[in-house]
Amino acid sequence: MSFGDQVAGGDPGPESWRFIGPVPELTKTPCRVVHATLDRRICLFYINGCFFAMDARCAHSGGPLCEGDIEEVNGVLKVFCPWHDYDFSLHTGESQMGLKQPVFPVKVEDGSVYVKFNSPLSLTPLSAAAKE
Ligand code: FES
Repeated sequence: MSFGDQVAGGDPGPESWRFIGPVPELTKTPCRVVHATLDRRICLFYINGCFFAMDARCAHSGGPLCEGDIEEVNGVLKVFCPWHDYDFSLHTGESQMGLKQPVFPVKVEDGSVYVKFNSPLSLTPLSAAAKE
């Protein structure tokens, strides 16, 4: 398994690299929810040795993409929304249904995972973090 820098899409801009956590912690499950704001979350997928970051609420009607099935279709890794089964490419966020899910660049550096985003990101829900 290789952990070199990898970029999984997203727009370049004023975002900066946000620390998510150590690689061994984030490779234990195929998807982790990462909290951005009280009402915005990101899915951090770990599939086939690579990380991908995508907005957690489905662009169709807000379904929880972290709970979706991951499948490779014609060589493209996709998540299938558990609510209405729309598919989204983990690389581009594009769906066969004409929608596009926001995706964000991911990199692995010195054993840690970072996502390029425009606000701090946390594995802990923000309301819980505020109580600590
Ligand atoms: S909410 Fe995701 S496909 Fe409808």
